Amino acid sequence: MKKIIAGNWKFNKELRNKDRAREFIEKLEKEIAGIENVEVKVFVHNFVLPYLAGRTKKVKLGAQDLHWTEDGSFTSAQFSACDIINLGVKQVLIGHSETRFYFGVDEKKVALKLKAALKEGILPIICIGEDIKEKEEGKTKQVLEKQIKEGILPALAEFSGESKPEFLIGYEPIYAIAGFAKLRGSDPKPARIEDIEFAHEAIREVFSQAGYSGVKILYGGSSKPENAKELLSQAFIDGLLIGTASWSLSSFLEMIRIGENLG
Ligand code: PGA
Repeated sequence: MKKIIAGNWKFNKELRNKDRAREFIEKLEKEIAGIENVEVKVFVHNFVLPYLAGRTKKVKLGAQDLHWTEDGSFTSAQFSACDIINLGVKQVLIGHSETRFYFGVDEKKVALKLKAALKEGILPIICIGEDIKEKEEGKTKQVLEKQIKEGILPALAEFSGESKPEFLIGYEPIYAIAGFAKLRGSDPKPARIEDIEFAHEAIREVFSQAGYSGVKILYGGSSKPENAKELLSQAFIDGLLIGTASWSLSSFLEMIRIGENLG
């Protein structure tokens, strides 16, 4: 099965420059023309999304967040699901821990955003994960279960007719995300493989109890070329959601090639 390599440009200043962003995506397209075993996604800032939309073939572009309403008094720099789909973009990150931490996105808002995305046929990549305190207190499973049961399942249930809605999960333990590690003054490093396995199993178990089997899970948090092979070799990891290391074309490409060679 193809692994997914997804870059998250976050708020990287250089990549909010439309010429730089376009150059990056055009070079990336060329370099991955022959790639067969990896699906490549890039989640860009809204400022450059309209400039890049419609210009990619292999690279699947995505937005980093969305607003759940279509119209009204909501002062915001966000796009709605309709705005995203009108650009021809068909995927979005929902509930990324940085949106939870800095912008107050909670389970209720995750559910609203998820419903808005599914209504427009946008593939959501829903991010969940525990913080360091929760991990140290042994509450990882409990936290993931709460995020799934309160934010995700109720929204999915509204779209579960004959066929189940499509979605991906991004498991991103907060303590492993480079930006948060730096905030704590520690070195950014990924979660331990056994901790990722435990979390992915817990996530799949909660979903399967609710009738969603075979959920695909991307791991995110300080993944980089140096650890990509170890992470991507694990059968329980369907791909990587890469922040910092995706901002450099060469390191992003290196990770894509690692995935390609494992396939
Ligand atoms: P990081 O971010 O790779 O910089 O740790 C991952 C993410 O937040 O998606």
